[in-house]
Amino acid sequence: LRPTHRLLSCPGTVAADAKREEQSSRSVETGSEDRTPKKKFSEVQKERREQAQRTVLIHCPNKISEKKFLKYLSQHGPISHHFFYESFGLYAVVEFCQKESVTSLQNVTRTPSMETEAAIPFKSRFFNLKLKNPSSQTSEKSSIPCSNHSPPSSKKLSELLCYAESVDDQLNTLLKEFQLTEEDIKLRYLTCSLIEDLAAAYFQDCTVRPFGSSVNSFGKLGCDLDMFLDLDEIGKLNTSKTSGNFLMEFQVKNVPSERIATQKILSVIGECLDHFGPGCVGVQKILNARCPLVRFSHQASGFQCDLTTNNRIALKSSELLYMYGALDSRVRALVFSIRCWARAHSLTSSIPGSWITNFSLTMMVIFFLQRRSPPILPTLDYLKTLADAEDKCIIEGHNCTFIRDLNRIKPSGNTETLESLLKEFFEYFGNFAFNKNSINIRQGREQNKPECSPLHIQNPFETSLNISKNVNQSQLQKFVDLARESAWILSQEDKDRPSPSSNQPWGLAMLLQPSVVSSVSLAKKKRRKPASERIKNLLESIKSHSPENDTDTNGK
Ligand code: CTP
Ligand code: MG
Repeated sequence: LRPTHRLLSCPGTVAADAKREEQSSRSVETGSEDRTPKKKFSEVQKERREQAQRTVLIHCPNKISEKKFLKYLSQHGPISHHFFYESFGLYAVVEFCQKESVTSLQNVTRTPSMETEAAIPFKSRFFNLKLKNPSSQTSEKSSIPCSNHSPPSSKKLSELLCYAESVDDQLNTLLKEFQLTEEDIKLRYLTCSLIEDLAAAYFQDCTVRPFGSSVNSFGKLGCDLDMFLDLDEIGKLNTSKTSGNFLMEFQVKNVPSERIATQKILSVIGECLDHFGPGCVGVQKILNARCPLVRFSHQASGFQCDLTTNNRIALKSSELLYMYGALDSRVRALVFSIRCWARAHSLTSSIPGSWITNFSLTMMVIFFLQRRSPPILPTLDYLKTLADAEDKCIIEGHNCTFIRDLNRIKPSGNTETLESLLKEFFEYFGNFAFNKNSINIRQGREQNKPECSPLHIQNPFETSLNISKNVNQSQLQKFVDLARESAWILSQEDKDRPSPSSNQPWGLAMLLQPSVVSSVSLAKKKRRKPASERIKNLLESIKSHSPENDTDTNGK
């Protein structure tokens, strides 16, 4: 998917970016094969946030002339980027080169007067374009290219995978099809920025930051939008400006605990979103959860949003995941495939419950890659040893320090293929001693489980927490069974792979077909020895082929 076109070039943005990238690629080398310099997480966030602040969202009539539309908007200043998309109507995202253009546009818009409904005059950056003479626009209608924010259908994915040249190619194809597009990322930052405008009505100078899979590089098209209402900057802005003896004193209201403060803040923001938030529907205040949140649907962007506050550690874990995703190009390819595999077999769900979450699966992949020989990813403790004074970060007493400059981390010397890693991943977790061991990416090795939850994955920063506490024994067992079967399917595949032109699912495509996985086992049940014996034999053969498998096979 590409931007529709650039209307005007903006000095200092696109061209400057390209030049900077070019310059730094000559001086720094990173990644096992990709030598492009990587931006720090904070740099990406800052840049995207600044772009979003000079962007507007416009609900357009279906019949619109793109040329006239852009010509009209350019009266308010040059446009650096724009695109259209459909979500119950046609929408345009228009990024101006300067923030002032947004104010200029706002100044010529008016609150509509309606006959049957009443308008609440909240001034936002979400506009509704009404044309005086719609018929004059029709000629160009069909030419408006819309950017697509939906993942491919399973049929299309299956076709693409069948035609791939190798399993490695399949994993990379899946990544390309499912990863967030440039436009989707822009829309996510814009949505946060629009919510920030609303929250600023209560908390001036607050920041609403995206976190989770929208920014950690592991988000699939259609994933939810996790937002963090950051109030910490408010006080800091003022202290930096204060000089001399005169100190501004704020009237604050004290409440008994941090949790109550969080609940009160989210409660009013939830009300605000519900009553005044343009395009915010289905607002639910879930204030008694361990991490209180407001869930709502942002209709115009189509995103399901979870707004939290006082959740800074989650932002830090998003940064850590972003780093891991950028360190080696195999990481994201493997995580996306495992996430799709888990979804295809209903191991994960969009409904909260006792299923494994995508976050837990990502941790499992990272852990597995730390366990390779030589390791593909470094441990968190190692990243901490590389940190300098500026990286130091303590949040609520938890040490969240790690190096943030990706370019200073040495690439891995491991050259395993994605195909081999996928197979080994299933073998590794098909045989993992879940009954006694905990997954720990801080140390990069199994630890004794501190509590009896079926699956224990240590939260990398709040180390007393288990991020997969919700997973029950039967869901874990389902994961183990499917991992074993998938390992087996891949090992069989090596022997008789259909030719790509035969249109038969193979490799990854085979693993993503729920019916195939269960029918393979059903057919085998009929044809061969009892399942228990078959799996036992299978495990023995896998174990004997796995040089570094030293875990307990009874571990479930
Ligand atoms: N998180 C956490 N501990 C948990 C669950 C979540 O620290 N037990 C943090 C992680 O930083 C996670 C973020 O909250 O990335 C958002 O959680 P969630 O939306 O469940 O996961 P995502 O990583 O965003 O994945 P998905 O694509 O499924 O939304
Ligand atoms: Mg999420």
